Amino acid sequence: MTGKNCLIFGGSGQIGRHLIRKLTKSDYRVIVVTRNIHQKGHIIKTQGNAGYIDIVEANIFEEDKIKGLFERVDICINLIGILYEKKGSSFRNIHTLFPSLLAKLCKQNNLKHFIHLSALGINEAKDSDYARSKLNGEKEILKNFPLSTILRPSVVYSVDDNFTTNFMTLLTRLPVFPLYYNGKTKFMPIHSSDLVNIIHNVISENVYSQIIECVGPETLSLKEIIEKLLNLIDKRRILLPMPLIFGKLTAKFFQLLPKPLLTEDQLRLLKYDNISSGKYKTNTDIGLPAKNLFEKEVEKYCYMWKQGGEYSKKNFY
Ligand SMILES: NC(=O)c1ccc[n+]([C@@H]2O[C@H](COP(=O)([O-])OP(=O)(O)OC[C@H]3O[C@@H](n4cnc5c(N)ncnc54)[C@H](OP(=O)(O)O)[C@@H]3O)[C@@H](O)[C@H]2O)c1
Repeated sequence: MTGKNCLIFGGSGQIGRHLIRKLTKSDYRVIVVTRNIHQKGHIIKTQGNAGYIDIVEANIFEEDKIKGLFERVDICINLIGILYEKKGSSFRNIHTLFPSLLAKLCKQNNLKHFIHLSALGINEAKDSDYARSKLNGEKEILKNFPLSTILRPSVVYSVDDNFTTNFMTLLTRLPVFPLYYNGKTKFMPIHSSDLVNIIHNVISENVYSQIIECVGPETLSLKEIIEKLLNLIDKRRILLPMPLIFGKLTAKFFQLLPKPLLTEDQLRLLKYDNISSGKYKTNTDIGLPAKNLFEKEVEKYCYMWKQGGEYSKKNFY
């Protein structure tokens, strides 16, 4: 084996798509596992040149199928994650048991490296099921395959994210935007391209056995993020601080929907700042400071939420 064969779980997602582009351009060959090849196959296949990407359809409970895939690779990357639970997809299954299985398989098959995407702020957010399951997953991984590298990103943004794009859609539609905890929760948003550079570097420079917090160059409160987005899409909205009880009731209702905008667990998570802790190395400490600035990057794609869409930028006639 060349040391350049990667097995990627969750490669059809926001970070995965950017990562596949980066890795295949750097001559890595990837096998990407998806639950639904008909729905996601074309999204995955178009991220790299012909011959560089294989797709396998499997779900995380098909242990035998997944075991077989480890014979052909030397690096495993896990990008599977969920923000809310659904029948069969519990936080425990997705964030704890599955990563634990992957780490065991990495050990059994003498893989060179296992890179796992966790999340920032999970030590502090003790009352969040999401955070607890991610933290337990990390512990299992480090126990089963100590050579693993765990990356904890703050919120990740890009043109195809579920963060800035969803917020801009809501801000165009709602006259009033609710702010919980007065919008004071702090984030260090990191652009997807900066994060995949870090993953690429971890693999190519053999950065082993570490937890690395991955953060962008700015610390912004949720209110500042919303204000920047409003400014970028030329909208004025009332940002209304809401009592938590209102948030809890809203979340209880949203949780009934197939894709909830807000859950009670997310509301609990929002209580905690999502910034570097000072207890672990960051991407800057390993020589990879994030370069992209939030407002400058979002400006490149925000016009689709402005009046006039792509024609809002210039006067053509
Ligand atoms: N994006 C962020 O802001 C952010 C912040 C902190 C941490 N992270 C972590 O970084 C990782 C990647 O994030 P992302 O934003 O790229 O994720 P994403 O787009 O939400 O999802 C990644 C992939 O996970 C697979 N997946 C989703 N639900 C699943 C389920 N129930 N069972 C099995 N597979 C499932 C899907 O692949 P298929 O449909 O192809 O099977 C999906 O494309 C996650 O672990 C996430 O928790 C992300």
